[in-house]
Amino acid sequence: MSSSNLIKIIQPDDWHVHLRDGEMMEAVTQYSARINGRCIVMPNLEHPVTNRELGLKYLDKIHSLTLGQLFSPLLPCYLTDNLDLDDFRLALVENIFVGAKLYPNNVTTNSSYGVSHIEKIYPTFEILQNLKKPLLIHGEKVGENIDIFDREKVFIDEELVLIREKFPDLKIILEHVSSKYGADFVNDNENIAGTLTPQHLMLTKKDVFFDEYINPHHFCMPVVKDESDLLALRKYACSGHKKFFIGTDSAPHHIDFKIPNLNAKPGIFSSPCSIELYASIFEEENSLQNLEKFSSINGPNFYNMSINKNCIELIKESWKIPEFTIYKNLKIKNFMGGKEINWKIKK
Ligand code: NCD
Ligand code: ZN
Repeated sequence: MSSSNLIKIIQPDDWHVHLRDGEMMEAVTQYSARINGRCIVMPNLEHPVTNRELGLKYLDKIHSLTLGQLFSPLLPCYLTDNLDLDDFRLALVENIFVGAKLYPNNVTTNSSYGVSHIEKIYPTFEILQNLKKPLLIHGEKVGENIDIFDREKVFIDEELVLIREKFPDLKIILEHVSSKYGADFVNDNENIAGTLTPQHLMLTKKDVFFDEYINPHHFCMPVVKDESDLLALRKYACSGHKKFFIGTDSAPHHIDFKIPNLNAKPGIFSSPCSIELYASIFEEENSLQNLEKFSSINGPNFYNMSINKNCIELIKESWKIPEFTIYKNLKIKNFMGGKEINWKIKK
């Protein structure tokens, strides 16, 4: 339901978010739990979540931070070159892991334990396919001769097409789709869906890359691309297309890791304002009537889960996104921090 000043939607889910560990986790988890029924929490901790025991421990920590809230964290296993397959299978059967996450080696923050040769881990895909559990993919390939803007396309052409062919029944989520090429691939193939972040719907490479430096607060992997890509992604999102849904990829880093050069860690922290940003984007595209499909319906339908029962309301009221999130010794730049935004969660 939506009028010009009020939007009432089924409670959203965030199908890709980084809650981290330790103090950072204490600082950021509340922002995801404030609105979402479920979150897929990424396992790329400094010591990644690669087995059942680590999975249980991590879920326990999140539960203890969200006691009394209607909030369910869902955790995919971090795939490595040498997982214990029996442990992996058991944790999937027990629903400790919702599925698995493929980070190709060294493509992004905390991916140094990621997979080096994807065909070597095909046995894990076999297990996922048999158990009808999804494979979540960071779809980029790095290499000396691969331009940073082409990583998604090269991954699709050289890896994803093969995975798709070899495991036709495996449910795949291509995460944080960043290009028209990637979104069209999702559209054109069976059993695959895509998540879309606020930043890939709002920024182009001109907002990140300058002659001598980058804007570290707009730097994430995959990097944002051209206007033609942004427009294609907006079209898929705002049409309510059933294969696309929220995955904020909210990925906090302490400000010291966000120095304006290429050593800045990739990752953008958006959870203090992500649903509000999505609402603004859908409003700009005259598509507020489709926000609920994108935020709350397409995701559970693809994951074969029930749609949340509660609703949330957004009102049209201008507010300023705080510039930083500060907690104990941590200072994190908020995405769009310091900017005015038109939509606000009604408490
Ligand atoms: C993420 C992070 O910081 O963990 N960074 C990012 O740029 N998106 C990792 C990821 O999802 O790629
Ligand atoms: Zn991520």
